[in-house]
Amino acid sequence: MKKLVGGNWKECCSKDTFKFLGRLREEQFAGLDAFIAVPSIYIAQARHEFPAFLRIAAQDVGRHEAGTYTGEVSAAMLRENAVEYAIIGHSERRTHFGESSQMVAQKLKQCLQHGLRPVLCVGETADCRSAGTHIEFLHEQLRDSLGGCSDSSVDIAYEPLWAIGSVLGAGVAQIQEVAEHIHDWMASYGVSGRVLYGGAVTEKNVTSIIAIRSIDGVLVGNASLGEEFGAIAHKVRAAACGKSSN
Ligand code: PGA
Repeated sequence: MKKLVGGNWKECCSKDTFKFLGRLREEQFAGLDAFIAVPSIYIAQARHEFPAFLRIAAQDVGRHEAGTYTGEVSAAMLRENAVEYAIIGHSERRTHFGESSQMVAQKLKQCLQHGLRPVLCVGETADCRSAGTHIEFLHEQLRDSLGGCSDSSVDIAYEPLWAIGSVLGAGVAQIQEVAEHIHDWMASYGVSGRVLYGGAVTEKNVTSIIAIRSIDGVLVGNASLGEEFGAIAHKVRAAACGKSSN
């Protein structure tokens, strides 16, 4: 499977953010899967202005098929509008909007039913990590977020809450430990897909992250808002050539 480089513009972009995309180079992304998740209001602009090597992703998906759910955007609507990936269960949705893993499981089901490729985020808090219970916590979060969706194709992003928006992000040993567990859990649930890392990924640290054997890509927040995103993709490419894929 190709390495994946995903961006997430969160609520941090404007119409002008698209301008830097014209300065990305196709060769930086050659042989990779790449997307940027935009707020729904910018999907139409993304359809016009994204270069061919970038897929459009949603930052969230409604958990119902359709109906009287003011403000929601369904998986079917996203697919109708050329969206190919959807981030679900991001910690900012879980923390600020009260999303439970059960709600995330409904969203996952909608994605799979409508052919949207889900990128499911899991991650522990700093307290959980210092208590040494992160592996149990993550297993539970993954199991509950997957719901009954075994035998499916889902990319899983490990995004520790304490690393998102931080200066350094998580260390290589910390990422490796969790990524290996995630691969094992995916196998036990019959889930195929890539394991990504997210949390302060930059041009400076991406080479050591992608060198981790069980990491198949990165999810980039802040550094996806400018040309650094192209530099990150370029380094993922370069490093991926030097290791066998999982
Ligand atoms: P960050 O965000 O790269 O700005 O830390 C990552 C994320 O939230 O996916």
